[in-house]
Amino acid sequence: PAEPALPANTLNFASVQRSPMIAGNELIVPPGYVWRALTKQGDPIGSKLGAPAFRSTGARRFDTTAAEAELQFGDNHDGMAFFPLPYGSKSSERGLLAINHEAARANVISGFRFVGVTSTTDPAKLDPAGETAMNPEVVRKQKAYHGVSVAEVYRDAAGQWQVQRDSAYARKVHADTPIAIGGPARGHAAMKTSADPAGVLARGTLGNCGSGATPWGTYLTCEEDSHKNYFATREMDPKDPRFDDPHWARYNIVSGYTRDYTWHFLDKRFDLAAEPNETNRFGWIVEIDPFDPDWQPVKRTALGRFAHENVAHLVNADRRVAFYMGDDQGFDYVYKFVTAKAMNPDDRKANRGLLDEGTLYVARYNADGSGEWLPLVHGQNGLTAENGFPDQASVLIWARLAADKLGATQMDRPEWIASDPGSGWVYATMSNNTGRGSASAPGGTTAAPRAAQPKGPTNPRDKNLHGHIIRMRDTGGDVAGTRFAWEMVVLAGTGTADTPNPDNRGTINGDAFSSPDSVMFDAWQRLWIGTDAADALKASDWSGKGTDWSGLGGDMLLAMDTRTGQVKRFLLAPDGAEVCGAQLTPDGRALFVNIQHPGTEQPRDLAIEAMTWPDRIAVADGGIVRSATVVITREDGGVIGI
Ligand code: FEO
Ligand code: CA
Ligand code: CA
Ligand code: CA
Repeated sequence: PAEPALPANTLNFASVQRSPMIAGNELIVPPGYVWRALTKQGDPIGSKLGAPAFRSTGARRFDTTAAEAELQFGDNHDGMAFFPLPYGSKSSERGLLAINHEAARANVISGFRFVGVTSTTDPAKLDPAGETAMNPEVVRKQKAYHGVSVAEVYRDAAGQWQVQRDSAYARKVHADTPIAIGGPARGHAAMKTSADPAGVLARGTLGNCGSGATPWGTYLTCEEDSHKNYFATREMDPKDPRFDDPHWARYNIVSGYTRDYTWHFLDKRFDLAAEPNETNRFGWIVEIDPFDPDWQPVKRTALGRFAHENVAHLVNADRRVAFYMGDDQGFDYVYKFVTAKAMNPDDRKANRGLLDEGTLYVARYNADGSGEWLPLVHGQNGLTAENGFPDQASVLIWARLAADKLGATQMDRPEWIASDPGSGWVYATMSNNTGRGSASAPGGTTAAPRAAQPKGPTNPRDKNLHGHIIRMRDTGGDVAGTRFAWEMVVLAGTGTADTPNPDNRGTINGDAFSSPDSVMFDAWQRLWIGTDAADALKASDWSGKGTDWSGLGGDMLLAMDTRTGQVKRFLLAPDGAEVCGAQLTPDGRALFVNIQHPGTEQPRDLAIEAMTWPDRIAVADGGIVRSATVVITREDGGVIGI
């Protein structure tokens, strides 16, 4: 039977409009909608794990041990997936939420997030003497607040979503959890460390940014900035030639010892001099089975190593599966991985090895709207031993270098990708790239900077402040194939005539936004767009008219009707937060959204000390600003936006 026709209006809500476009200590949704914080940092994921209820000292500090933190929701909620329970159902009453925790740090206020750790969380204040102030408990706590939480959630009799605290599925995969290494790089020399001489078992996952899911019900967590933020050393001369070697330089492994984290002082696996290969064990996509807490997660090296943002898939007619991925760095690439074998739709566990075998491609976009997927295969197209790629593992571990060699198209910070299985269109956000127009791209060696491609059809603006969204579709419906067509979907920016730099004017049909980041495509052909403009805003005069930020403000979630291109603003985030990981229940009545790092910039209308979102209770009563998953429903219980 034919699918019922979609309603004409799938954006049936009053768009959020404020002046200025900031929310302070609030979260704003349209009239008729309500939000509720479901998984706040520091809350127990499940009582069976033994974590106690959340405690705060009342001085904006988490009162928790590191061991407890390993059983609590982490920090910086980012990508997320909702898996209906039971597996294979389309339940909108109960499911598993797998949630990424990208980072754990005190971004703004020294010592804000952790007791007595100013010097370990504020790199600006770190000096050699600071080493004595390092605290193993704090390092473990920071590691514990990274990774992935898996929580069982359900709609109660009153229609409110709750965490099932006594769930058998509740678990945490964090920065010290054992994770197997799968695929061609398993056991490779570059993956071996003193703790793992066989190169087969990593510890931990880091920089868990965006995410995806497989059609067989596993969760894919993407390790993004896992290289530059965590690895450092005091033991190597800054002029050591290894720092100019593209193997490190292209992955932002640089000299010096001040980083976002200072784990290398206390955990030698993060010290580049002690364990130079440990960094090669991050920057992968990790597969986790949320339905099977006993199954060890696996780093899937066949999908390549880079700053993985997220992953979206399409299933081919022959049941091979294509996975689309972005490498989030200015002038980096869009990739696709195609499994060698077909998936088995009837036996989910039969698909457990599927991501270890297949072909990784990188995208080249042509000016005429066509494109090619260039295979990253050892022995082809110059990916040979004489060019530094002695085997397929080397091609994957150094995927950026291999892609450089093939002449892939440098994009404006590829962030999330969302797929529409109905049409085959794959939507990709290019968040922004103010470096476009420069002669050299970041991530090059200091000895020989990587040349930057000038603006072109797929990245049409110099100093791209606001970003854009493109879409691509593999030719003939063959998602395992090597040819595609692409189109520009929208250039972000206000589009108002008072934008001083004409290049910053957008083409949005509807509500303005900047810096598209997370995207999700739903069954109503809507593209949900979460923004991450806060960093750029902080450095800009955002406030008044007549700037390139006119009409913009804090980060937000919008919905685009992809049939018409119309865009409406659905949510305005608390100050300092970006909006990530939107997921709808199959019935469309509950929208889960992650609010990441609220309070990490000076709010416009209140003291930062007053930021206590989401609880919004007095600091003296334990109020503390926390990242969280919120669930948004309609007051009348209807389908969101319909
Ligand atoms: Fe973690 Fe590219 O955002
Ligand atoms: Ca982020
Ligand atoms: Ca992102
Ligand atoms: Ca971003």
